[in-house]
Amino acid sequence: MSSDLFRVLIVDDEPNIRSGLAKGLVGAADLLETAGSPDEALDKFSKDLYQLVIADVRLNSNMDGIQLVREILHRRPQTAVIVITAHGTVETAVEAMRAGALDFISKPLDLNLVRQQVRKAREHYQLLIENQRLRNQLANAGEISNIIGTCAAMQDVFHQIRQVAVTEATVMIHGESGTGKELVARALHDLSDRSAAPFVAVNLGAMPEALLESELFGHEKGAFSGAMRQKPGCFEQAHGGTLFLDEVTEMSSKSQVDLLRVLEARQFTRVGGEDILQSDVRVISATNKSVDELIDDGTFRDDLFYRLNVIPIHIPPLRQRREDIPLLVEHFLQHFCDRHHRPIKQVAPEAMQILVASHWPGNVRQLRNVVERLVVTLTGDVIHGDDLPPELQMRAGATVAPAVTLSQSVEECERETISAALAASDFHREKTAKRLGISVRTLHYKMGRYGLH
Ligand SMILES: Nc1ncnc2c1ncn2[C@@H]1O[C@H](COP(=O)(O)OP(=O)(O)OP(=O)(O)O)[C@@H](O)[C@H]1O
Ligand SMILES: [Mg+2]
Repeated sequence: MSSDLFRVLIVDDEPNIRSGLAKGLVGAADLLETAGSPDEALDKFSKDLYQLVIADVRLNSNMDGIQLVREILHRRPQTAVIVITAHGTVETAVEAMRAGALDFISKPLDLNLVRQQVRKAREHYQLLIENQRLRNQLANAGEISNIIGTCAAMQDVFHQIRQVAVTEATVMIHGESGTGKELVARALHDLSDRSAAPFVAVNLGAMPEALLESELFGHEKGAFSGAMRQKPGCFEQAHGGTLFLDEVTEMSSKSQVDLLRVLEARQFTRVGGEDILQSDVRVISATNKSVDELIDDGTFRDDLFYRLNVIPIHIPPLRQRREDIPLLVEHFLQHFCDRHHRPIKQVAPEAMQILVASHWPGNVRQLRNVVERLVVTLTGDVIHGDDLPPELQMRAGATVAPAVTLSQSVEECERETISAALAASDFHREKTAKRLGISVRTLHYKMGRYGLH
C-alpha cells in the first residue's frame, strides 16, 4: 500500500537549502519533494500523502513555519514534522515542539545529523503504523461472529478459526459443555466459502440409534413403518455447506461404523433406498469428552477419530480464562437488558469479583443464564454480591481439590462464606449472623472453630 511508503516534503524559501536537503536525503526517503512556500506546501500536502514534513520556521510569507506546522498537524495529526531553525534560536525551536513538531534542526545544516533525524522520524512512523496494525488486529480479534474473548487462549482460537475456515479441512472442536463449541462451528462456516450454503447441525448425543441413520442419510418412503414419505438426511440437506456433528463421541459403535464408511467413501444411500448419493459437505464435529479416554476404553473408534480430528480446536473452560468474564458479563447484560426492555444494570465491584472467582462448571452458557436471571428478576439498577445465586457466592474462590473429603470441602466452604460475610458486614457480628441466617451464638461457635477472630 502506498501509505507504507515514506514520503518527505521539504519546505524552504531558499532554493539552495531545498536542493541541498533534497540531495542529502536521497535514500533516506522513498520520495522527496520540495515546496518554496507554505501555500505550495499545503497545496502539495492536500494532494499527496507525506509522512514527514521538514519546514523552515522563518519563511518569507504571510504564514510562518510554526503556523504551517499547526496547519499540517491539524489536517493530518499523524504527520511527523521537523523544523529548521536559525542557529541559536532556542525559543522558536521550543515553540515548534509545542506546536507538535517531532524534532528540530539548526542552521547551518549538518547533513549527517539531518539524515539521522530523518531516520528516527521514519522509525517513529513505522512504529506508528505497526501499532495501528496491531490495534486493528486486536479490534477484530476481540470478537469473531459474536464470540467474546480477549484472553490469549481465545485469541489463539480465533487465529485458528481464521486460518482453517477458508480451507476444506475437517475440524473437531473440543471443549467442556457450554464453552461455545457450536458458536465456533458456525464461525467456521460463516467465514468459509460455503457460507451461502446451509449449516446443518445434528446432535448425535440426543439421537436414538434407530433414528440416527435415517437422520443422517435420509430414508425412502416406506423404508420403515412411519416413513410416510421420502426424507433427505442431514448429509443431503447440508450439500454445498457444512455439516456439524455435535456430541459425536456419543454415537453407538454401529453408528460410528456407518459414519466412518460414509466419510471414507464420500457417498451414501438413504435408508430403504438403492441410489448411491453423493454430497459435498464439510464436516465439523464437536465433543465435550476427553477423546483419548474414550479411545482407550474402546467407546470411540480411533479410525473415526483420526478422520474427524484432522484439525483439532480446543476451547478452554471459562475458569481457565477468568479475564474474559467481565467482558462476557457486560456483553450478556447489554443483550438481555435490551431484550427484556430493562435499563442497563451496573455490576458492583464485589459482585464482579464473585463472578470472576466462580468455578463455572457450565461455562459460558451458565454465565449467560445467570446474567439473564439477574436482568429479569432484579429491580434495582446495580447488581450486588448478595444478589448472585448462592452457589456462586459459596463457590467463589473455593478451588476444587479432588482429594478432599466431602466434609472437608463443606467446612472449607463454610469457613470462606463466614469470613466473607464478616468482611462484608465490617466484622459486626449481629449483622453477619443475620446475613448468614444463623444465630449469633452459632456464629461465635463457628468463628472459634475456624479461628476467625
Ligand atoms: N465466547 C463466547 N462469547 C459469547 N457467547 C458465548 C461464548 N461462548 C459461549 N457463548 C454462548 O453460550 C451458550 C453456549 O454456547 P454453545 O452452545 O456454543 O456451547 P457448546 O460448547 O456447544 O455447549 P454444549 O457442549 O453444552 O453443547 C450459547 O448461548 C452461546 O451463544
Ligand atoms: Mg453444543
